[in-house]
Amino acid sequence: MKNPHLFKLKQHLAQYPIVEWYRRRHLDRKTFKPEMLDGADTVAIDWPVDLPKPRIGLVKDCGKMLFTQPYAYWPRYERFLKNNGFAYEFYDIRRSDWMAQADRFDVVVWRTESDPASQYEAENKIRILEMMGKKCLPSFDLVWSYEDKIRQAHMFALHGVPTVPTFISYDRDEALTYVASAPLPIVSKLATGSGSMGVELFRHRDAAERFVRRVFAPGNPTYWTYLRQKDYVYFQEFFEDAAFDLRVIVIGDRIFGYYRMRPEDDFRASGAGKVVKKEIPEEALHIAVRTARAMGAPMIAVDMIHSPRRGGFFVIEASISFQIDTHEQLKLGDTPGYYRHEEGRFTFVPGRFWVQELALRRFLETTYLHRG
Ligand SMILES: Nc1ncnc2c1ncn2[C@@H]1O[C@H](COP(=O)(O)OP(=O)(O)O)[C@@H](O)[C@H]1O
Ligand SMILES: [Mg+2]
Repeated sequence: MKNPHLFKLKQHLAQYPIVEWYRRRHLDRKTFKPEMLDGADTVAIDWPVDLPKPRIGLVKDCGKMLFTQPYAYWPRYERFLKNNGFAYEFYDIRRSDWMAQADRFDVVVWRTESDPASQYEAENKIRILEMMGKKCLPSFDLVWSYEDKIRQAHMFALHGVPTVPTFISYDRDEALTYVASAPLPIVSKLATGSGSMGVELFRHRDAAERFVRRVFAPGNPTYWTYLRQKDYVYFQEFFEDAAFDLRVIVIGDRIFGYYRMRPEDDFRASGAGKVVKKEIPEEALHIAVRTARAMGAPMIAVDMIHSPRRGGFFVIEASISFQIDTHEQLKLGDTPGYYRHEEGRFTFVPGRFWVQELALRRFLETTYLHRG
């Protein structure tokens, strides 16, 4: 999904019954099918016999955006729960009785979605669930910075993660002074956006200045039909020589990853669909491990761009959930697998995995077994 106009049109059309009818008729092609899980290695957890297993509430994701249903996380989580003998039930968390329903569970597993409306709900409910003593995947700390480039930038700065120089301000005059003298072009990002749809380039100062004035007055319209960018700017230095966006996925000591190549006619790689799977330089693996530690997530995808001129990898964002459409998230030549991280060294191990299963195992291990 790269086209903000098409995305906006889809949001508008969704309100009409005829569109809903049409989508339901064609749902079958786009729904999850159990055989989609086949072919991945089994992920087993080593659970002590004398420790009762927690009761799991599993939330079904991808209900809003029907086209994403084949990539839903819940069937992969469910596969892990079934294979490892956990008692689980589906948890319909969107309903008004969600607090009463929570009584049935010790743990809530919920792939929260990335749009601003879903995040508002997720932050609210996970905060309360944790106050009720439930363990949540993701935790409140993690949903807090998920899909929010501003919160992530603060976390990266706090933990010394190497990033592209970024200017974030909620001060109109400071923002105007910045655009009057910053090197051109200037990258501008919406705090919450994905697939490059909230990322723009300003080549001219007057356009950037008009943008700032709009942001600090009525707010600047975004590709979300219900959201304006209001009273903040997120500007970034433009790395003209970044040929790809490298995604490194860290789950404890297992590391996966792939490259999203920049298309010929656009500087934005994410959402363009040009994926290349091949070996990842050690420097990038080290940066990803450091970032993952800073964020403290069972699974995290650390996205970075590489600038030959500036000599290194620079993190642009980190996501606790992202589209996963295959059990081959790293490939060396024709062999799928992962890098095993041990005391600063990385060794390739072949295998096929639904990384959601590894993430859920990691979450349960760190929460209940104090491993890792
Ligand atoms: N500072 C930058 N300089 C050059 N290219 C960038 C920069 N920041 C992002 N990009 C490109 O734009 C794409 C989208 O940016 P990103 O911040 O990852 O937004 P999104 O959340 O929409 O993926 C990236 O995949 C990368 O190719
Ligand atoms: Mg991105």
